[in-house]
This record gives sequence, structure tokens and C-alpha cells, in this order.
Amino acid sequence: MFKNKTAIITGGARGIGEAIARKLAAAGANIVIWDVMEDVAVETATKLGDEFGVKTRGLGVNVTSSEAVDEATKAILKEFGNIDLLVNDAGITRDNIILRMKEEDWDLVLNINLKGAFLCTKAIGRYMLKARYGRIVNIASVIGLMGNAGQANYGASKAGLIGLTKTSAKEFASRGVTVNAVAPGYIRTAMTDALKDEVKEEMLKLVPLRKLGEPEDVASCVGFLLSDSAKYVTGQVLTVDGGMVM
Ligand SMILES: NC(=O)c1ccc[n+]([C@@H]2O[C@H](COP(=O)([O-])OP(=O)(O)OC[C@H]3O[C@@H](n4cnc5c(N)ncnc54)[C@H](O)[C@@H]3O)[C@@H](O)[C@H]2O)c1
Repeated sequence: MFKNKTAIITGGARGIGEAIARKLAAAGANIVIWDVMEDVAVETATKLGDEFGVKTRGLGVNVTSSEAVDEATKAILKEFGNIDLLVNDAGITRDNIILRMKEEDWDLVLNINLKGAFLCTKAIGRYMLKARYGRIVNIASVIGLMGNAGQANYGASKAGLIGLTKTSAKEFASRGVTVNAVAPGYIRTAMTDALKDEVKEEMLKLVPLRKLGEPEDVASCVGFLLSDSAKYVTGQVLTVDGGMVM
């Protein structure tokens, strides 16, 4: 499905990003992983290349640095010749109630989750517009749609990412580039494994399907939005959340 297409997945070393990279590699895409965990990015990329016989590259890239993003974009274009698919997945949490939230934790979360996606969209979007083809998917969160006590920074970053999605969709549409967001609910990854059991039980009460999602559940929806089956879909937010938000 994605033969000869090159996909960049930020935060693709592990978790949901890794599941997305695996899904795209299985469908024939060449895979580029940008992650601050350089060793894990290289390891994951090498593993996917061996398993699926596609070209892969793992690079240590901090998405909050415009210099790093611009340099990595140039390097990938030189090595792969094209960039067709971009998934902005890199994201973190630094939870606390507003009155106790440190300014630096607000800044860090907004910088990685929102500014990082802006910088990657700008650097790679520029090339996609010239090529008159591209598919971008931003990994938001249901928290950006419904809020969550203790996650002001995270909720604001993900709501902002949805605004960025709709704005870039409008700016890029006339050149054949689509931009959509996927908003996962509670997905089983290192991020949610760290939660206490009683917190997990409370969360599940909010999920009509009564179970956590798997990274693959998110990856298959991202794969759809990146594929030509979704070529007439842009500026949308697809929730993958067991029915939490409806
Ligand atoms: N797990 C969930 O339940 C859930 C729910 C909704 C949304 N999400 C979103 O999905 C995305 C992936 O989450 P996950 O659960 O797989 O988390 P994860 O921590 O397993 O993966 C996040 C990846 O991003 C990388 N990263 C962090 N800062 C970076 C930076 N500055 N530059 C480049 N890479 C960076 C990390 O090294 C890591 O590999 C995040 O955007 C998260 O907000 C997760």
C-alpha cells in the first residue's frame, strides 16, 4: 500500500509511534524514526528493516529544536529522495494540578507536544507542498477534547495540536496535502503502565468498551488516514478511545 513512500514518525522509538512505524513498514513504506532516545530509535528502525525488508533510518532528533529538525529533514531528503508521510507522535506528560504546576513543566509539555509538531510540519510541509503530495497525521488525545484535572499543560497542548491540524489542513489542501489528527483515549503503553491500579480502574469506568486500547488500535487508524482510502479526508479528528468521547 505504501511501497516507495517514505514515512517519518517522530517519537517512533517505542509505544504508539513504534506500532505506527511497524504498521507502515508492514505495508511497504520506508521508515524514518526521529526520537530523543537515539539508541532506541536506531534499534527499532533496524529491527523493522530486518523484519519487513524496507529501508529504515533511526535518528536522534529533538523535535523542539528547529535546527535539528531542519538538518534531519535535509539529511532524509538526501538519503531517501522523498518524504510522503509524516506522523507527529512525540509527546510527554508532566501532570499536576494547576496551582502546583511548575512553569517549566508547562513550557516543556507545550514545547514538545505542540511546538515540535509545528516545527516538523513547517520543515516537511514545505517539501510536501512543492511535491504536491503529502499526508500528515498528528497524534492528539481525548484530553485535548474533554480536559482532565491534573493535565492543564497536556490538555492545552493537545487542544492546540487539533487547532494546528485544522489550520495546516486549510493551508495545505490546495496542494494535495492532507492533515488529520487521531485522538487516542487510554492506550496500553509505558505512559499508562505507570498509573496506579485504582487510577486505571476509575479510567475504565469512562470507557464504554470497558478496556484499554492497544497501540495497534491507534496504528491501524493512522494507517487509514495516511492511505489513499482517506484521500478525501482532511482537517478531521478521529477518536480511538473505546467510545469515551461521542
Ligand atoms: N498512551 C496513551 O494512552 C495515549 C493517549 C492519548 C495520546 N497519546 C499520545 O500518543 C503519543 C505517544 O505516546 P506513548 O504512549 O506511545 O508514549 P511513549 O512515551 O511510549 O512514546 C513517546 C516517544 O516520544 C519520544 N519523545 C519525547 N520527547 C521527544 C522530543 N523532544 N523529540 C523527539 N522525541 C521525543 C520519547 O522518547 C518516546 O519514544 C504521545 O503524543 C501521547 O501524548 C498517548
